[in-house]
Amino acid sequence: MTFKLTELPYDRDALEPHISARTLDYHYGKHHNDYVDKLNENAAGTRYEEMSLEDAIRTSFRKNDKSVYNNASQAWNHTFLWESMKPGGDGRPAGTVSDMINEQFGGLDTFRKQFKESAVAQFGSGWTWLIADEDTLAIVSTSNADSPLTTDTTPLLTLDVWEHAYYLDYQNSREKYVDAFLEHLINWDFVQANLDALDARSQLRASR
Ligand code: FE2
Repeated sequence: MTFKLTELPYDRDALEPHISARTLDYHYGKHHNDYVDKLNENAAGTRYEEMSLEDAIRTSFRKNDKSVYNNASQAWNHTFLWESMKPGGDGRPAGTVSDMINEQFGGLDTFRKQFKESAVAQFGSGWTWLIADEDTLAIVSTSNADSPLTTDTTPLLTLDVWEHAYYLDYQNSREKYVDAFLEHLINWDFVQANLDALDARSQLRASR
């Protein structure tokens, strides 16, 4: 097994009442696990086995190796999703993230409104992201397994809007699930850490 299922960073009941342990049993224990298993099956005996997960995503995207790409990207997206949430998140950013949200969206309420509109409007399966495009923050949604990793932008936060992410808890109301994420679950420390890593990379490039 080349690619491993990452550990869930909290207990399966830790996001209750907003996301149930039953949902995480399926979403993490079955769906995420299956993407990793299928990636290993498809990568077996190929050069993808030697790559990091990120390199496997970018290379399979470029070469249009769909079975590797879809499973690799879904494996990565789900790990990023688990980190994007935390138990007891009160939905309020701090530090430079808070300043950037205020400057670029005009405040947390507008950010939430725009994120929700994008997530609800995404037709079918996909993901909604907060990304950094150089110094600019933006909200984008992607279809199926796609992520910002195959673009020049940097993902900071994500929400899975595949139906398997919310159907057990919210049935067909993606809207209620998105509200719960925005108000109770966002891990803003993770967003800040991703921004800090981006700053460090930019400074390193500038110093060369
Ligand atoms: Fe998912």
